[in-house]
Amino acid sequence: MKKKLNINNIKIKKFKKPLICLTAYTAPVAKILDKYCDVILVGDSLGMVLYGMKSTRDVTLEMMIMHGKAVKKSIKKSLLVVDMPIGTYETNPKIALINAKKIMKETRCDAVKLEGGAKIYKSINYLAKNNIPVMGHVGLLPQSVKKESDYKVQGRDYLGFNQIIKDAINIQQAGAFSIVIECVPKILADKICNTIKIPTIGIGASEKCDGQILVTEDILGFSEKTAKFVKVYDDFKSRMDLCVKKFVRDLKKNKFPDPKHLY
Ligand code: KIV
Repeated sequence: MKKKLNINNIKIKKFKKPLICLTAYTAPVAKILDKYCDVILVGDSLGMVLYGMKSTRDVTLEMMIMHGKAVKKSIKKSLLVVDMPIGTYETNPKIALINAKKIMKETRCDAVKLEGGAKIYKSINYLAKNNIPVMGHVGLLPQSVKKESDYKVQGRDYLGFNQIIKDAINIQQAGAFSIVIECVPKILADKICNTIKIPTIGIGASEKCDGQILVTEDILGFSEKTAKFVKVYDDFKSRMDLCVKKFVRDLKKNKFPDPKHLY
C-alpha cells in the first residue's frame, strides 16, 4: 500500500520519482486520485473548472476551505495541498499567516500553495517560519492573468527567463518545500531544476521536474479548451452527453421509472 509522504522528506528529495500530482475539488474525485497520487492539490483553478469563472481571480478563501474540507474527507494517503486565493497573502505576511492558519485548521491540509516569486518572499518566509509548509508556484501565474491573451508561455525573453530563475531561487530561500513551474520553455525549467534543491513539480515545464501535475478535469476531457501541455486521456464530456441523452430518451418513451426502480 502507498505510504503518505512526509513534507520534510519531500524537501530533501527523499521520495521515489516522479511525484504524481493531480487536482481535486470534490470528495468522489479525491477518493479515486488518492489511490494513485502523492499530492492532491485543491487548486483555485476550481473557479474556472467548477464555477465557470473567467479566471481564478474571483475565488474566495471560503470556496477554497469548502472544497478543501470535501477533498480531505476522502483521502488517506496523499499529501493535501490547498491554494491560497489571490488577495489573501501577497501584501501582508501577518494576514497571510492568519489566512493560512484558517485554511490549515479548517481543511486539515498538509500545506498551502502561493503564486509568485520575489514579490511574495516575505509572506512565504513568514509562513515557513511559523511552521506552515508552503509550496511555491512560478512561471505562468494564473492569479495574475486578467485577460485570455495573458495565458501564454512565460520566460521566453531574456529578462523574463532570468526573472523566473530568480523567483524560484527566492522561493527556495524563503523556505518553501517544493515549487510548481507552470508553462515555461523546457530549457528554462531544466535550468531551474539544475539550480534549486527543493523538488520541482512541472505543468508545461519539463520531464526533468521531480513531479508532474495537471488539472484532473483536463485529462478526463471535460474542459472546453486545453493548453498544449495537457494530455487528454478520455472524452468524458461526450460520455456524459450520451448518458443524459439516454435518460431523456427513456423518459420520452415512458421507460423510466420502470418497476425495477420503484418501491
Ligand atoms: O489551481 C491549480 O489547479 C493549479 C495547478 C494547475 C498547478 O495551480
